[in-house]
Amino acid sequence: MTNTTLEMKDISIEFPGVKALDQVTFTAKPGSVHALIGANGAGKSTLMKVLAGAYDHFSGEIKLGGKGLSISKPTDSQKAGVQIVYQEVDAALIPTLSVAENIMLQETVQHSGNKQWIQWRNVHKKAAKQLEKLNSSISTKRLVSSLTLAEKQMVLLARAISTDCKFLILDEPTAPLSNRETEKLFSVIKRLKEEGVGIIFISHRIPEIVEICDEITIMRNGHVVKRDLVENLTPEKIVECMLGQKLEQQFPANNTASGEPILEVKGLTDHTIVKNVSLHVSAGEVVGIAGLVGAGKTELCKALFGDTPKTNGTIRIKGKTVKVNSPHVAVQNGMAFVPEERRKEGLNLYESVQTNLISANLHAFTKALHFLDKKAQKNKSQEIIQALGIKTPSPETSVHTLSGGNQQKIAIGKWLVSEADIYIFDEPTKGVDVGAKRDIFELIAALAKRGKAILYASSELSEIVGLTNRVYVLYDGKVTKELSTAETDEQELLYFSTGGQSNEN
Ligand SMILES: Nc1ncnc2c1ncn2[C@@H]1O[C@H](COP(=O)(O)OP(=O)(O)OP(=O)(O)O)[C@@H](O)[C@H]1O
Ligand SMILES: [Mg+2]
Repeated sequence: MTNTTLEMKDISIEFPGVKALDQVTFTAKPGSVHALIGANGAGKSTLMKVLAGAYDHFSGEIKLGGKGLSISKPTDSQKAGVQIVYQEVDAALIPTLSVAENIMLQETVQHSGNKQWIQWRNVHKKAAKQLEKLNSSISTKRLVSSLTLAEKQMVLLARAISTDCKFLILDEPTAPLSNRETEKLFSVIKRLKEEGVGIIFISHRIPEIVEICDEITIMRNGHVVKRDLVENLTPEKIVECMLGQKLEQQFPANNTASGEPILEVKGLTDHTIVKNVSLHVSAGEVVGIAGLVGAGKTELCKALFGDTPKTNGTIRIKGKTVKVNSPHVAVQNGMAFVPEERRKEGLNLYESVQTNLISANLHAFTKALHFLDKKAQKNKSQEIIQALGIKTPSPETSVHTLSGGNQQKIAIGKWLVSEADIYIFDEPTKGVDVGAKRDIFELIAALAKRGKAILYASSELSEIVGLTNRVYVLYDGKVTKELSTAETDEQELLYFSTGGQSNEN
């Protein structure tokens, strides 16, 4: 068992226009789970990237067991036993390679440097062993491109623990996981902790932090504002330190007036999991799609938006039957969709914040002869940056340099500019801090007040209960229950989400 403390002292780093870290001091101990929390853009990922060797232009000291470490590239920290599972899972994986190759990547690459034969059977065997330790049943032969977000996360975790790992950094590992997968991860974390591994755990879910973490460091705007034992702090206090103020009421008042039916779906079936789904949404209504991770919410949203083929069913929009067989047709008919995998599907990462924000609604910013109205673009994008509190040095900044949560806000913000009639949100608050969540809820409530029809898919039952007027529960691709939100609660929703049956049936 190691008895080495990891210390980061007076760490500062700047990027164009941002001082991301300003004299940050952070200490993690072996055999302890250390929460690192803060609002979107506070500097959590940057601090951990410094530790993982992603940057060489920072100042300050890093020590392990009192001895100075020189870290300027990933192999430096790997050699010291520091492993990281990045927030951007896709960026750390090679989609065209197998699960086994991705897990054993470091070893395979080093091996091929020695020009010896790679024993593939061994690679698969070793990879399978790591997955087994995580209680995961993913086949090592599958291509990473075919995995769900949760499975990709497991692959990264398996890769991290395949090495001699003294400190393990998990940057928002639970965001894409179901409850069961989260529990599984927590039992792995507990085991690693018992083995003496120090774990640094980043999450926006306060209850998780209280459950699993021993110590906590809270960051705000590139500074550390609090360091303590978790047991000394209440959830309210944690949020207050994070935001610099108390959090008001999380959910806005519901819009109760609903108008005529805008979206009517009958018997929708796709070639994956969605089976015979019928639903309707009226003007001014926020309708929830509740269901666990894997229930088919994302597939349903995609099929509705024409992103994936349907094998059966009809869609009527404002009383007119529409063949929504592509996102283009969907947009033309007044639909907007905020997808779950926003970084991949909802953003142009290498374009500016402003370009992304106006991209869903270019024609609104086009003057006569199709010239873009630069001033209107700028005003509108600045309005959304403000409304969602997007942390960016300027509207011209490239989106890939923003923090994970701020990228999410842009993917949502771009649809808020568009004048759609129907808004479909798929897990819009994933990776978003508690303060920004409230801003998003408020914007959705405001859309409803303006008579928009809203479908809100989420596995966070508290959000379904807090935000929607009506809810459809999805289980195994089928709608198993429709409920009026005022007459239900999280417990009942959970009951139906896990396959519970109505008594009357
Ligand atoms: N490569 C980069 N280039 C420019 N700015 C960057 C870069 N990396 C981070 N930043 C900036 O540094 C600040 C901190 O970002 P960081 O990703 O560390 O936030 P975070 O606390 O992890 O937030 P989130 O909860 O949204 O993931 C942000 O303002 C971000 O825009
Ligand atoms: Mg981050």
